[in-house]
Amino acid sequence: MDFNIAVIPGDGIGPEIVAEAQKVLDTVGKKFGHSFSYTEVDMGGVSIDKHGVPLTDEALATAKASDAVLLGAVGGVVGKDSWYDLPPHLRPEAGLLAIRKGLGLFANLRPAYLYKELKGACPLKESVADAGFDMIIVRELTGGLYFGERKTEEVNGVMTAIDTLKYDENEIRRIAIKAFEIAMKRRKSVISVDKSNVLDSSRLWDKVVTEVAKDYPEVTLTHMLVDNCAMQLVKDPAQFDVVVTENMFGDILSDEASMVTGSIGMLSSASLAEGKFGLYEPSHGAAPDIAGQNKANPIATILSAAMMLRYSFDLDEEAKAVEDAVQKVLEDGIRTIDIMSDGMQMVGCKEMGDCICERI
Ligand code: NAI
Ligand code: MG
Repeated sequence: MDFNIAVIPGDGIGPEIVAEAQKVLDTVGKKFGHSFSYTEVDMGGVSIDKHGVPLTDEALATAKASDAVLLGAVGGVVGKDSWYDLPPHLRPEAGLLAIRKGLGLFANLRPAYLYKELKGACPLKESVADAGFDMIIVRELTGGLYFGERKTEEVNGVMTAIDTLKYDENEIRRIAIKAFEIAMKRRKSVISVDKSNVLDSSRLWDKVVTEVAKDYPEVTLTHMLVDNCAMQLVKDPAQFDVVVTENMFGDILSDEASMVTGSIGMLSSASLAEGKFGLYEPSHGAAPDIAGQNKANPIATILSAAMMLRYSFDLDEEAKAVEDAVQKVLEDGIRTIDIMSDGMQMVGCKEMGDCICERI
């Protein structure tokens, strides 16, 4: 099959890590008989330098017209980069918000997987790290508290601020469907996280997720309160497969879940729209401190490309081939600097990409 991918290298290490992910996609294409074509799109600092804004309308239109988007990272050294004096809506990071909004990306997926080869980086106690974990947090991205009505005003002489946490049943249903679809490709368990003992929006969440579950009889649905979930993530992360939750809870829980893996250079992510369209990017930023030095770990971006194969292109076997190759590279003791430990072989960004391609 032919797929047209919009590629946004971005700033800092972005171009280096994206090049390795493209190399991996090309290797998958050759092996499995697909062709991937790429259209490069400017975003972030690169776009500011060329066009004066972090994302042009043309760039957004190109991304929209593609089958999926692969993104590196944007931004420089905040406070010091050449874009620093620009107002926030014209800084590189504003491109991220604009493209997420422009593409209607309402579901944010953040896997947290502990490789046994890297369990030394896991901050949890040894018995928990030994058990391992493999979960994916599905966060609602365009509703809830971050998008509700807000105001700050003086009430009876007292400064008062209000944020609104609002969800309608359609917003809840579409993210729940995504979560169950993802669970069908995994271990068939969904844990829905809310605060239904207090919040009306969570009660509706609970009810709609329970309704959606009826269409997926093979998937086990469990409800969990958010404060308990925060505890369970560090106590027994192995119990989680797919976690679905609203925007703010997901923001906090996905950061917590990713940090129990201990390694930022390994963490992939996806943001999905209606249908099969999605944007795929590593969870980390532009890492300006190591940019241009062939030191970056490309694995987060390569695993994001694997998510693209699975969720946008329905190429499960191909995605698995990439994930297995990453696993093999780690088993073979090959490491970039961020995951380096005693007795391992250190390689650069390019060499890591090559090693993964060889193993596909
Ligand atoms: P960062 O994630 O870029 O870097 C944090 C630390 O992790 C640095 O020491 C960096 O060298 C290291 N690191 C990150 N990715 C790595 C990789 N693949 N391999 C090896 N080491 C890696 O976060 P920071 O420093 O807070 O932000 C730098 C810039 O990136 C800022 O302008 C920020 O706004 C932007 N940013 C962009 C994001 C995006 O494009 N989605 C997300 C987060 C930050
Ligand atoms: Mg966050």
